[in-house]
Amino acid sequence: MFSGQHTLLRRLEEADAEKIFSHWNNYELRQYLPSPLPSSQQDLIELVRTKDKLFRERSEFFFGIEECCTSKELIGIINLESISWISRHAFIGSFCIFKPSLRGKGYGRDAMLTLLDFAFNVIDLHVVALLVESYNKHAIGLYENCGFMKRGTMRELVYRNGKHCDVTVMDVLKKDFLDRYGILPKGENII
Ligand SMILES: CC(C)(COP(=O)(O)OP(=O)(O)OC[C@H]1O[C@@H](n2cnc3c(N)ncnc32)[C@H](O)[C@@H]1OP(=O)(O)O)[C@@H](O)C(=O)NCCC(=O)NCCS
Repeated sequence: MFSGQHTLLRRLEEADAEKIFSHWNNYELRQYLPSPLPSSQQDLIELVRTKDKLFRERSEFFFGIEECCTSKELIGIINLESISWISRHAFIGSFCIFKPSLRGKGYGRDAMLTLLDFAFNVIDLHVVALLVESYNKHAIGLYENCGFMKRGTMRELVYRNGKHCDVTVMDVLKKDFLDRYGILPKGENII
């Protein structure tokens, strides 16, 4: 587990599938995830199993985001995928705080900084990149706040709500993250 100030990143368990399922098919959330298609609870159990296997193989790191101060609830997910151990890069693939009422309170930023600290100071990646729908100003603001910079636009790459939408490419290098944040304290929960 890797703990920030308000959140903790932990591996998912099969028992989490039910909790994720209660949010996963909400269309408001799905529009930000890779596929807009709904999932069954069985799909999510398989997803958790697959992500666990990929974690053990070190080819993807999929974490649950847990609120660590009061509720200790699973409030979202975040991952590093498409990892190259030769180039030492990875992409953020999925990132969300499930409930809209919990967004804008700093949990996402805390979880992203904890993930970047893991990426750069624990597994020694060189660069972390991501793609984000250009209309998602909240997410882009958060990424900039965490040290990512815009590197370009892929035009009309994704189809959302009846429109072909531009996608912004962003990245952050280890040295830029270290200049800004150094090595973050890991808290007492690291094991
Ligand atoms: C994107 C998401 C994970 C962010 O998590 P969050 O908990 O809402 O984000 P935070 O409250 O930590 O945001 C903090 C920072 O974002 C930035 N930010 C927030 N809203 C912003 C806006 N409208 N414009 C610019 N920057 C903004 C600010 O820098 C803010 O930092 P500050 O509060 O210190 O000023 C969450 O909103 C979410 O799940 N959204 C739906 C799914 C999604 O969009 N996923 C991303 C797909 S790429």
